[in-house]
Amino acid sequence: MDTPAKPLTFGAFTEMLNAGLGYRFITHHGKNQRDLLAGLCDKYGSDKGELSPEGHPYPAPAHNFTELYSRLFAHCRHAVRKVFECGLGTNNTSIPSNMGARGRPGASLRVWRDYFPKAVIYGADIDRDILFTEDRIKTFYMDQCDPAAIQAFWQEVDDTGFDFMVDDGLHVFEAGSCLFTHSIDRLAEHGIYVIEDVTPTDLLRYKQFFSTTPYSVDFVTMLRPNRPLADNSLVVIRKG
Ligand SMILES: C[S@@+](CC[C@H](N)C(=O)[O-])C[C@H]1O[C@@H](n2cnc3c(N)ncnc32)[C@H](O)[C@@H]1O
Repeated sequence: MDTPAKPLTFGAFTEMLNAGLGYRFITHHGKNQRDLLAGLCDKYGSDKGELSPEGHPYPAPAHNFTELYSRLFAHCRHAVRKVFECGLGTNNTSIPSNMGARGRPGASLRVWRDYFPKAVIYGADIDRDILFTEDRIKTFYMDQCDPAAIQAFWQEVDDTGFDFMVDDGLHVFEAGSCLFTHSIDRLAEHGIYVIEDVTPTDLLRYKQFFSTTPYSVDFVTMLRPNRPLADNSLVVIRKG
């Protein structure tokens, strides 16, 4: 009889992640109760961060990705011109990775539109029923697991040199690596590409995937008080 696999402890997981990489930095910080980006997430209903845990339209606890994003972009948000995000936040509960029946499609695109006041925001999603157009926001159909659909999307968008690209779509390694492979040429030389909602198991798979690429990659585990790590990790990729 096979012995059941032991669950991976946080310590064992971070040691496996660090093996062969060697460097890591750890910050300890309190919550910035005036963070603009987290406040915009509360306003529009995106789960990338929160100022208040009350009244969210989505069922799961909020991530705290805004804490990193604010550190990366607060000083240059007025200079960001082009943003792309996969995953609008469908409220169709039959679609994987949905935001629940009360979810507000387009929430994070509106967050980016307000946070980056000079940027055009391009969004993509597999759910055609939630596509919309608004001031500085354009959305398109895309299945991030289908290279042909990704290529068709980029042909339709017909733009390049993106400052910030975010994968908040299906949240499985196969989908994330497929979208990355067929989209990274659209990132500006000094742009930032982020894969969100990564589980520890997938973080180790991304480590392997990026080990043979020329990119500069951070595997970021974001910790919250009284919450398990779960899918609260990011892969942050730069070309330099
Ligand atoms: C977690 S939601 C995005 C939330 C949104 N970014 C926000 O913060 O408000 C994930 C989205 O990915 C979409 N999705 C699921 N599978 C997909 C696929 N294969 N290709 C593209 N989008 C997909 C879902 O329809 C859903 O809208």
